[in-house]
Order: sequence, then structure tokens, then C-alpha cells
Amino acid sequence: MARLSLALLGIIAAYHTIYALEISGSGGRYIILIFPGHGKATTIFKYGNETVLRGYIGYGKNAKREYNNEDGMLTVTPLRNGFNIKWETNQTDFEFKDCFEFQDDVHWFGGPQRKQQHWPLEKMEIDGSEAYVLKQLDNFSVAEYYWLTSKGVYIHVNERTPLFVDQNVHEPGKLCFIARAQAPYINRTRVLLEYDVIIEDNAREAHLHAIKNVLGKPSGHPNPKMVKEPIWTTWAKYKAKINDSIVLEFAEGIRKQNYSAGQLEIDDAWEKCYGAQEFDTSPEKFSDIENTIKKLKELDFRVTLWVHPFVDDDCHPRSEEGKKNGYFVKDPSGGDRATWWNGQNSHQIDFTNPDAAKWYTERLRKLQKNPGIDAFKFDAGETNYGPQPSVYNIDPELVPNALSKHYVETCAQFGDLIEVRSAWRTQSLPIFIRMIDKDSNWGIENGLYTLVTTLFQMNLNGYPMVLPDMIGGNGYGQLPDAELIVRWTQANTFMPAMQFSYLPWEITSKKFDAPKIVKKFVDLHAEKSDIILEAMKEAVKSGHPVNPPIWWIAPEDPIALACDTEYLVGEKILVAPILEQGATSRKIYLPAGNWTDGNNGKKYKGPVTIDAYPAPIDVLPWFTRDA
Ligand SMILES: *[C@@H]1O[C@H](CO)[C@@H](O)[C@H](O)[C@H]1NC(C)=O
Ligand SMILES: *[C@@H]1O[C@H](CO)[C@@H](O)[C@H](O)[C@H]1NC(C)=O
Ligand SMILES: *[C@@H]1O[C@H](CO)[C@@H](O)[C@H](O)[C@H]1NC(C)=O
Ligand SMILES: *[C@@H]1O[C@H](CO)[C@@H](O)[C@H](O)[C@H]1NC(C)=O
Ligand SMILES: *[C@@H]1O[C@H](CO)[C@@H](O)[C@H](O)[C@H]1NC(C)=O
Ligand SMILES: *[C@@H]1O[C@H](CO)[C@@H](O)[C@H](O)[C@H]1NC(C)=O
Ligand SMILES: *[C@@H]1O[C@H](CO)[C@@H](O)[C@H](O)[C@H]1NC(C)=O
Repeated sequence: MARLSLALLGIIAAYHTIYALEISGSGGRYIILIFPGHGKATTIFKYGNETVLRGYIGYGKNAKREYNNEDGMLTVTPLRNGFNIKWETNQTDFEFKDCFEFQDDVHWFGGPQRKQQHWPLEKMEIDGSEAYVLKQLDNFSVAEYYWLTSKGVYIHVNERTPLFVDQNVHEPGKLCFIARAQAPYINRTRVLLEYDVIIEDNAREAHLHAIKNVLGKPSGHPNPKMVKEPIWTTWAKYKAKINDSIVLEFAEGIRKQNYSAGQLEIDDAWEKCYGAQEFDTSPEKFSDIENTIKKLKELDFRVTLWVHPFVDDDCHPRSEEGKKNGYFVKDPSGGDRATWWNGQNSHQIDFTNPDAAKWYTERLRKLQKNPGIDAFKFDAGETNYGPQPSVYNIDPELVPNALSKHYVETCAQFGDLIEVRSAWRTQSLPIFIRMIDKDSNWGIENGLYTLVTTLFQMNLNGYPMVLPDMIGGNGYGQLPDAELIVRWTQANTFMPAMQFSYLPWEITSKKFDAPKIVKKFVDLHAEKSDIILEAMKEAVKSGHPVNPPIWWIAPEDPIALACDTEYLVGEKILVAPILEQGATSRKIYLPAGNWTDGNNGKKYKGPVTIDAYPAPIDVLPWFTRDA
């Protein structure tokens, strides 16, 4: 370990003693902290003669006093390739706040899943008055404490930090990490703001370091059938209006179109009441469910069922059972009322309690036996539905995100055909993580553009087994038209799975044969699924993203680093989908390498920009890279 060295720079102003602390790490990395005596300290991370990160650390608006390094609250420890920064105090009304600048030529990656999924991240706004925890608001369902820059720096915040993050809201042009022992972070005995800053040669090297040291990698991949064949869900097309005959009609319609069966997911609402974990067998719903499942299997479908972690208060006798046994998430005074999108008077199951998890899973096992459900779509899992702040029977420093972790670990017991949508420190699980419900539009407002950027966010948070949400979005408010369905299908073709709810043969256009085009790309996906599975196997082996941004193979190329509309499959295929309404051509950038056009066999030598690649409605531009 390198030695600390303190350099007293001297007195340069009448009132302030300025002193600087320079700490050397290994391999030319060092950090300079300049303390003005009062207020924020300037912090400069250097790698050789280059400044790779610059910020102001140790100040907070609500702090009772200002910092200097004599407080004994700050410890800077050199690590092998960087530094650990740790602020700690047992004065729990204290706030720490460390901010880093967005420099003009530097891009940021990682960060949270959002409704407006910007990429790279420096354009994003995050309001630091809200805790940085998994929550439904703004689609924060995957949000590791991990940020990576194009300069090869990553910041990983210790999961015990009671973290708030502000970006471009209260602090324009900066990413700020704030630690406050404030709800939902209750019962803390200290305020901790701790993070590693690791400095590598470039973004790829830095991310590989993170995979190895903090993020981890999946222990396996989802069932190849989920990759090869489509997933068909009742949700977007029917919403909650489903029953035996509708599900059968949906399935038969799919087979009539000569699509392979794949997975048929019965979504909301099949349950007697939310939390019953039993079919509603009233005459107009699922009175014939055993027969329905039997027929679905005869049609060659695997059958999965939408489930959630809630029990509505009027769902008898489950809510009484849960209350009696203390299975629900509680606040400090014992209140256990939760609200979610389907219920204002509900309860969220406390998966940090193993007995509660068992109570939940036993019923799912029963459904697997009878009527014969193959697997489940596990919805929700974020922390914010129960009474706030919540208390759990676990290490208080892991509240509240540990609830999501325990939920997802419980879900993962149901094998390789499941899907979840929340994730926190569960990178090792061999399951699909679904993107949050997309909207049926083109743009940054949770539309088609964000299909690609969310893919990056999840891959760069260490979750390469990404299940894209339904093709064409969910039709909340606005319905998808044929052009959107076709372009969405194309954009999704080289992602790990294809999921439909709106049926492509039902949304047509007078201008082009939408059903035929969609079928062509579903077939192309099936044909290339071995390459996707190979990328998944590589992810299991080395943690590499399955669908990285193109800088993954050109980590020092500024054009590649800024690119948000092209993605890779492993390191072999580059996909440049049309993401703009009405567009029939697009600009494409191919980084260094020899490329072959997937559509016509034309060769390109990168780096090269194709100014206007023609892509009429039936064309998806994609390229293979020579090894
Ligand atoms: C920084 O270091 C590199 C290589 O070590 C050298 O080529 C470059 O000239 C240096 N730049 C400055 C401004 O000293
Ligand atoms: C805070 O920590 C210090 C150092 O461990 C200890 O001496 C002090 O008693 C603690 N204060 C409180 C209020 O726990
Ligand atoms: C996504 O975020 C928006 C904005 O907060 C919210 O209205 C929507 O319900 C979220 N989506 C889901 C599926 O929770
Ligand atoms: C947690 O804090 C609350 C008050 O915020 C208190 O009522 C409760 O007893 C504490 N629980 C534990 C386990 O310390
Ligand atoms: C499905 O395949 C059958 C048999 O090959 C054929 O008769 C039918 O027209 C096909 N249907 C569609 C919609 O392509
Ligand atoms: C299912 O719902 C549809 C539409 O509401 C209705 O026409 C049909 O009769 C229902 N099926 C059963 C078995 O009740
Ligand atoms: C790329 O193609 C050139 C010939 O145009 C060849 O010399 C070179 O080896 C190729 N590179 C790779 C990585 O295949």
C-alpha cells in the first residue's frame, strides 16, 4: 500500500489556512485534496499527468458545521488501482455530500433505470431530495450504486451508505453523492459515505474491474427456449379483461399464424383477489382453468402466470393469515398498510422474513402442480409500496433495498423460465430481468429510443440477461401503430428475447405488409439466437455484457463512447435500428474492425461513418465483425 503524504502548502490568505493532501496510489494514480479550511475541499484524481475526475467533497447544505480533514471523519485509503473514500460520523444529524463534475469531453455510464432513460448519463436529471432506493416512482427498479466514465474511472458506493443522489437538479453540471440518516434509512447509528474510485486505462478495463470486484456475474443464463421462441403475454392487448376463452383465443390465434408457441403468459387478472394465489373460478373468469392449461399445452405452449408480492386487505383469509403471523412489511409503529397500482388498501409481503417467503412460495408451488403452471412473471419488488419508513428483521444498514434483494432471491427459486423486474445486488442470479413497462411512443419518454438505452443501463449495472418489455409498448394511453410495431420488432431482434402482446397481424398498414415484416424479424431472431446464447455463455464465464454499447469494442473512440442508438451482441454483431418515426435511412458508425453488412454482404473497414444507410420499413441495418 502506498504511503500517505501530507504537504502543507502554506498560508495564502488572511483568514484561511490552505493545505493540500496528496495521496499516491499504485501505477501513477494519485489524489490531491485541497482543504481551504472551511467548506468544500477540491478533489482531483490524476492518472499520470491527466486529470480523470474532479470534484468537491465533504460539504452539505444541512451540515451543522463545515469540514476539514481534522474532523477525523475522512479516511482516504489507496487501493490497488484507485482509492477508497470514507466519511463517517456517529452524529446522525450530519450530512456528507461529495460532488463530481461532468467534464465536457467525458461520458458517464451505469446509474439508475429511469422513465427518461438518457444515455450517456450526463444529460440525466436526478433529484437529490429523494432517496436513491429501488422505487416504482420514475421506474427506479434497477439502480446499483455504480457509475463509470469514458476516462476509465468508476465509482462504486458502499451499499451501507444511506444514499441520495443529485444530478443536474440542485447541482447543475455535477453528480453528487449525499449521505443522510433520513427516512427510508432509519435506525442508523452512523452516517457513512463510502465509495471506491477505481482508475483504469479506459471504460472497458474499468468495467471489467468492476465485474470482478464489485458487480459480479451471472451464475447461469435463462432457459434457451425463452431466447429462441417468443413470449406472448395477455397484458397490453387485454389488460385485466381476461378469462378462459380469451386466453385460448389468444393462443389459437398465434398458432394459426404459424408462429412457434413459446411461452404464454397469463397476466393480470386471474386471481380470486390480489394475494389469494388462486384462480378466480367464477363463471365469467377461469372456471375451466385446468382444461384451458391442458389445451394450451396441447398447442405446445409453456404457461406462465403473472404474480406480485401483495395481499389486499379484503382478500380473505390471506390478509388475516399474513397479519396474524407478521408476514407484512411494517412501519416502526407496526402499521402494515401498503399501496400499489391495483390496491390502495393492501399489504406488501416482507421477504426479509423467511417464514413469509415460504408462505408465499408454497402457494406458487401448488399452482405449479395444479392447474400446471410452468413458471412465473414476478412483478414489482421495489421498496416503496409498504408503509414508510419500513422496518425489517435484518441488518438496519441494508434497509430498504435488501427487501428487493430477498424478494428476487425468493423468485429465483422458480427456475430458468421466470422473469423479475427489480434487481439490487442480485447480479449472480441466472434469470431474466425485464425492462419496466415501456410506453407506445418513439422517444425519450419511455418509448422506443429507451429500448436501447435501458438495455445499456441494465447491462452496465451487471445484469446482461435483459428481457425487453413488450414489442410496441403497453398501449397506456396511446396505442402502437404498424410502423412502431415493425421498428420495435427490428430494434428488439438482436436482444435476448422477443415479447409480444399486441399481435402483429392485427395492427396493419395500407402502405406495407406489417405482419410479413414482423415475421421475418422474429425468424431472424430465432436464426441468430445461438449467437445471443453464446454471448450469454460468455457473460456467465467473464461477466461481459450481452448487449453492450459499441464502445465496448472501441473504448478509446470518442464517437463510439457517445453513441446511444447502436448496440452490440457480444463482440460480433452491431445493430443500428431505426428509432425515429418516418425515417427510412440513418447515419451509422462502425468502429475499428472489418465489417460485413448483414443485409447484402457489403464489406466495410472501420472506423467509418455511413451517412445515410437506406433502411426502408422492411430493413434493419446490422453488421458482423470479422474475428
Ligand atoms: C502527458 O504524458 C504523456 C505520456 O506519458 C505525454 O505524451 C504528454 O506529453 C504529457 N502531457 C503533458 C501536458 O505533460
Ligand atoms: C461516537 O464515536 C466516538 C468514537 O468511537 C465515541 O467516543 C463516542 O462516544 C461516540 N458518540 C456517541 C454519542 O455514541
Ligand atoms: C414509470 O414511471 C412513471 C413516472 O414516475 C410512473 O408513472 C409509472 O407508473 C412507472 N411505471 C411502472 C410500470 O411502474
Ligand atoms: C427504529 O426506529 C424507530 C423510530 O424511527 C423505532 O421506533 C424502532 O424501535 C427502531 N427499531 C429498531 C429495530 O431499532
Ligand atoms: C400457416 O401454414 C399453413 C400450412 O403450411 C398454411 O396453409 C397457412 O396459410 C399458413 N398461415 C399463415 C397465416 O401464414
Ligand atoms: C370472456 O370474456 C369475453 C369478453 O368479455 C366474453 O365474451 C366471454 O363470454 C367470456 N368467457 C367466459 C368463459 O366467460
Ligand atoms: C481486415 O481486413 C484487412 C484487409 O482489408 C486485413 O489485412 C486485416 O487482417 C483484417 N483484420 C481483421 C481483424 O480481420
